[in-house]
Amino acid sequence: MKTVVITGVTSGIGLETARILTKQGYAVIGIGHSAENCNKARESILSGNPDAIIVFFAADLMQQREVLRVSDEIKAYLDTECGGELYALINNAGCVRSWYMTTNEGYEQQFALNHLAGFLLTHKLLPYLIKANGLVIMTGSESHKRTKVRWNDIMLSRGYNPLIAYKQSKLCNILYAKGLNDRYASSGVRAYVVDPGLVKTDIGNKNTGSLVNLVWTVRKRFGVPPSVPAETYAFLCGQNKKPEGLYYYLCKENKYSKEVTSDNADRLFALSERLCGINYL
Ligand SMILES: NC(=O)c1ccc[n+]([C@@H]2O[C@H](COP(=O)([O-])OP(=O)(O)OC[C@H]3O[C@@H](n4cnc5c(N)ncnc54)[C@H](OP(=O)(O)O)[C@@H]3O)[C@@H](O)[C@H]2O)c1
Repeated sequence: MKTVVITGVTSGIGLETARILTKQGYAVIGIGHSAENCNKARESILSGNPDAIIVFFAADLMQQREVLRVSDEIKAYLDTECGGELYALINNAGCVRSWYMTTNEGYEQQFALNHLAGFLLTHKLLPYLIKANGLVIMTGSESHKRTKVRWNDIMLSRGYNPLIAYKQSKLCNILYAKGLNDRYASSGVRAYVVDPGLVKTDIGNKNTGSLVNLVWTVRKRFGVPPSVPAETYAFLCGQNKKPEGLYYYLCKENKYSKEVTSDNADRLFALSERLCGINYL
């Protein structure tokens, strides 16, 4: 049986992806923000599919110490229950903020969760992915096309604009996936980014101010249900031969920003390694 780790599994896109993958017979390891939300997600998935194989781990992935703790727990689980193999890691947890807010490490929260958490978690689980010739899938966004990386102030500490910070974190998702493919294609691991489109979830209503809340409450009415993008993760996981593309929308390869170059990917890799205190190779 193939095992898939999904972050941000307790609501929205992550929850629907867990639902579809468990229905298709994958064993899912879900990482949720809180034990309470993990329990609700477990009930929701099992009520529709009592045979679903799913376990949950709770962690605040914004904090690097928490990423390290939960990755150790998951590694132990993969060793004892899954033959030391991980077929896919879906880095989906994400957030929106209205103000400059930082983590325990002093990192801007959207950058820390939307990019660094996946960067660090993937590093920790990479030997398990390599053993399974596995996949890394990032949840990106079409909004990555409308920005560049601010290399001199990547956390936007000077003149913070939350929307630019969000878009940049999504550009980092695709740069990171490219950097992974540049480094690990020969090891059998392949990385992808899914653009979910506009999806009716509560992401803009969590820990945001009244303006962002209001704008998102109106905007999300035009979104598709999260079961729609969930199909694209299932599509990527279900291919016998790994697709050649990098960026996928509605199960099809899509164009991405011209900012996505190997030079920018290398630069982001080096910076992220320094911010996480790790070395990939
Ligand atoms: N909705 C859209 O239109 C859209 C479009 C493009 C991209 N995306 C991306 O899709 C991904 C999923 O978002 P969504 O729309 O499905 O919203 P969502 O329902 O709010 O999902 C976000 C998930 O991340 C979790 N999370 C938040 N902070 C966390 C933390 N500190 N530690 C661990 N987990 C945390 C949330 O858990 P809690 O709720 O328990 O905090 C939730 O399960 C995000 O990466 C987002 O950027 C969404």
